[in-house]
Amino acid sequence: MKEKVEVSAPGKLMLLGEHAVVYNRPCIVTAVGQRMHATLEVTDEKILSIEAPDVQVTGYTKLMSEAGKGEIPKGARFVEMAVKNFTNQHPIPNGLRVTTRSGFSEFGFGSSSASIVCVTKGLSEILGLGLDNRSLFNLSYQTVLGVQGTGSGFDVAAGIYGGTLYFFTGGKEIEPLEIESLPLVVGYTGIKADTTEIIREVAQRFEGQSQLLNILYDQISTLVKKARVSLKLRDWTGLGDWMNYNQEFLTKLGVSSQKLDDMIAAARRAGAFGAKLSGAGGGDCMIALVADETREKVAEAIIQAGGQVINVDNNVEGARIES
Ligand code: PMV
Repeated sequence: MKEKVEVSAPGKLMLLGEHAVVYNRPCIVTAVGQRMHATLEVTDEKILSIEAPDVQVTGYTKLMSEAGKGEIPKGARFVEMAVKNFTNQHPIPNGLRVTTRSGFSEFGFGSSSASIVCVTKGLSEILGLGLDNRSLFNLSYQTVLGVQGTGSGFDVAAGIYGGTLYFFTGGKEIEPLEIESLPLVVGYTGIKADTTEIIREVAQRFEGQSQLLNILYDQISTLVKKARVSLKLRDWTGLGDWMNYNQEFLTKLGVSSQKLDDMIAAARRAGAFGAKLSGAGGGDCMIALVADETREKVAEAIIQAGGQVINVDNNVEGARIES
């Protein structure tokens, strides 16, 4: 058994298919350069200790046997439940100290899911289990469902596999797409979105209209499959069109917002191939697909529309042991 490991996992950016992917449909997600870093140290006493200063968790301790029970501060929930789920299946005889650091928790890049991935990958390394990506995914997804009660698992898949994935609900299909990185501009609205709440609102909005909702999700599913082909061919005009089309369905679902609409419209006017919100909606980020020549103009237009342009690499490496 190792005493200490350092592990990192990337955040994610949803490219196409959000919301529909919660309900047995595919999406396309890419892993981003913003990474969660975690140190896992085995300690003598049977105590779980979590330090996550980015989310205001400092000096938090608990008996290992109590992990997952009682009051858990919001910022510690994902790490603690990941430890609990993992050690239920693969017990460790000692205590554990987990320290995380990310610096990107506000953008909706999936810092919580990346922290789950770090814990799962780190514990596998500590115990010398060498779990493969599929096993890491299953354990991590179980934690997501345990904490949030809902979610497709696309974010933990991006954290584990990295790259750009064609992903089907619950990991029924996880296909790494062999592509180079995408020419994207990412604009942050400055508004933090609550994913679980927005999923609930969509369900409420369409109560008694499940047929209509299913038609919308089917149409999203169809366009995601077509976008996958455009992506593989590096057909940016085609992919941009699918992004715009996807945005129309997200508007119909009622998850866009005035700010997102303004930023998306500005990006398109400035010459982007396509632009849409990314993730649950309501806030967080929008993405625009651009040519080299229009990149700056699109970025400027997003800023003029009130957004903040963030530097985001995409299609990056998945979870890795740093030391
Ligand atoms: O808000 P985000 O970036 O975590 O994305 C949510 C995407 C959903 O499809 C709405 C939820 C999910 O788990 O797939």
